[in-house]
Amino acid sequence: MFACGGAKPPKEPLVTETVADAGPPEPPPEPPKPKSLYERLGEKEGITKVVDAFIKNAASNDVTKKRFAKLSKERVEKFRNNLIDQICKESGGDCEYTGKSMKDAHKGMKITEAEWNATVSALKAALDENSVGENEQNDLIAAIAPMKEDIVEVKPKAKK
Ligand code: HEM
Repeated sequence: MFACGGAKPPKEPLVTETVADAGPPEPPPEPPKPKSLYERLGEKEGITKVVDAFIKNAASNDVTKKRFAKLSKERVEKFRNNLIDQICKESGGDCEYTGKSMKDAHKGMKITEAEWNATVSALKAALDENSVGENEQNDLIAAIAPMKEDIVEVKPKAKK
């Protein structure tokens, strides 16, 4: 007969010591800072591409083209640069907008609700053409939406 298993191996001592100098536990790492809309739009370069596509669309759209057809080259250039700066600033970029307020820039133009809608569509199409994501599109449109009150002068008549 032989003993089952024989002698047991000596038990390892339980490790109970702690490191005395470890100090307080490390705080969890900071979550990465969410990117600004400006960064998500591709900064100044991305915004410039969108603005150029937007101007092309607005100048060829049947509802809005007459507004832009009569502007001189210099005026279109000024409008372009101001719009780039404005979108840059509105989206959180480090830009200075030196153009007029939206109220003053569109004063007396009698812009209609239909023109507003066509302009927003021209912007959406420009964003699509540049593969701007849906979240970025929605955030930019949301930043522009409150300007409607200062731009549209001809409100649709209330239905009777
Ligand atoms: C979507 C919202 C809009 C934004 C963010 C916007 C922005 C601007 C900006 C930044 C300027 C230049 C201001 C300056 O030079 O001091 C401008 C001018 C102008 N906007 Fe708008 N705009 C909007 C809607 C519209 C609409 C709905 C129309 C009409 C279809 C329009 C027609 C014009 C025209 C024709 C000018 C040039 C005025 C001139 O130089 O005489 N805009 N806009």
